[in-house]
Amino acid sequence: MHIKTANTKTNVHDLIKKRWSARSFSPKQLSEDDVQTILEAGTWAASSMNEQPWKYLYAMNGTKGFDRMHSCLMTGNQPWSNNGSVLMISLAKKNFEYKGRINRHAMHDMGAANSTLLLQAADMDVYGHMIGGFDMQKTLEEFNIDSEKWEIACFIVLGYLDDAEKLDEPFLSREKKARTRRSVSEISTKI
Ligand SMILES: Cc1cc2nc3c(=O)[nH]c(=O)nc-3n(C[C@H](O)[C@H](O)[C@H](O)COP(=O)(O)O)c2cc1C
Repeated sequence: MHIKTANTKTNVHDLIKKRWSARSFSPKQLSEDDVQTILEAGTWAASSMNEQPWKYLYAMNGTKGFDRMHSCLMTGNQPWSNNGSVLMISLAKKNFEYKGRINRHAMHDMGAANSTLLLQAADMDVYGHMIGGFDMQKTLEEFNIDSEKWEIACFIVLGYLDDAEKLDEPFLSREKKARTRRSVSEISTKI
């Protein structure tokens, strides 16, 4: 198993270092209880006005729902995500309940929920990979999503890790490639 724990300069929490976007997933399936735990973790993310402007559609591998979701992914994302145990579509609600006002924080808050659930997953040795490469129109139609109300943030595939060597190129190299980040000095300015 190729574990890509983050190599940090400071004392970052082990759980944050542990999460990474895997591509090689084992046949071991998540249980429904596991999925419920991961989804509940996401609900504890902060959101503007506690609106919780997120919704997840999910399907377990081996079901028609999984195949329908999988068929909406771009071809470059299909070969490796095929072995994931669960596929999710994360949706952000565009308007606040209150007077239907536009919620400009919706995608931000959706992202916070996604990050939170992925940390919960990592703690359970479940690895997730967010996927922005999907066919928007096909997904809207396939799942009858009202694009006036909902913005599709991304897909997420979840599963237990397997050997990188199970993957074909170019995914094998990507799975083995070291993770890098911009430095704190590049992404922050002390005022
Ligand atoms: C919104 C979003 C969309 C992404 N879309 C894809 C994608 O379509 N295909 C892919 O292989 N990875 C995708 N990724 C994964 C990123 O490439 C990955 O998070 C990034 O390289 C950092 O790696 P790490 O998550 O392992 O730290 C996406 C990530 C996010 C957050």
